[in-house]
Amino acid sequence: MMAENNQPGRPIFPYQVKQIVTSRLILRPMCDEDIDYFHDIRTRPEVMKWTHKRKIDNDIQETKSWINRFLRPDRSNPPFHLSIIEKTTGHIIGMAGVYTLHPQAELGYMLHPDKWGVGYATEALTAFLQKWWELPRYNQDKASNIEDWLFADAHKENGVSLRLMEKLGFERYTVFVEDGDEIIGLRLRSSLY
Ligand SMILES: CC(C)(COP(=O)(O)OP(=O)(O)OC[C@H]1O[C@@H](n2cnc3c(N)ncnc32)[C@H](O)[C@@H]1OP(=O)(O)O)[C@@H](O)C(=O)NCCC(=O)NCCS
Repeated sequence: MMAENNQPGRPIFPYQVKQIVTSRLILRPMCDEDIDYFHDIRTRPEVMKWTHKRKIDNDIQETKSWINRFLRPDRSNPPFHLSIIEKTTGHIIGMAGVYTLHPQAELGYMLHPDKWGVGYATEALTAFLQKWWELPRYNQDKASNIEDWLFADAHKENGVSLRLMEKLGFERYTVFVEDGDEIIGLRLRSSLY
């Protein structure tokens, strides 16, 4: 399953997405000005306990370093990390993105707790995934039936996230232990052409 970035079916980066509009949300590339919104989200223990970091950002500098990974991408950090804006308020309420391509493409997301439970993650990620599978890809010109995979993981206790991913079509394929926590690995396959 581990794959080089340029194997058939993998997205070709850089790719500039402008924005994705859904009925209640706008997804657009992250920018430096988003930092205060993300600092608010990333200083909430109920959000951060489910991330790989597990702890809140201690100061704005930590949030800045996190954003910088996506604003100044390198080979392993694709520029496909989007801020989620609530249309009614114009506020950034979260993010969805593929945060790494190495050794495989991995999906991540988080929302502000005040905005949980009204279907925003489902709405944002449905649109995000549609765009993801539409990206220009290596060997797109070939008329073969090329497959690609998107991976994600979630703590075994993160029932909302597991429910969300399974609703989006992800399947559970492995379980591993990270820092003493049981983590479920999930994957989503697309037949691209
Ligand atoms: C995971 C997260 C993005 C979900 O956001 P959300 O907008 O509240 O999700 P949705 O409203 O789209 O709901 C998704 C599903 O979870 C269910 N759900 C929502 N809140 C729930 C709760 N407290 N308990 C159980 N299920 C719940 C919803 O009912 C929905 O399933 P359904 O369509 O079958 O009813 C949000 O909880 C979050 O940011 N969590 C912290 C960060 C995190 O966990 N990131 C992912 C790391 S793997």
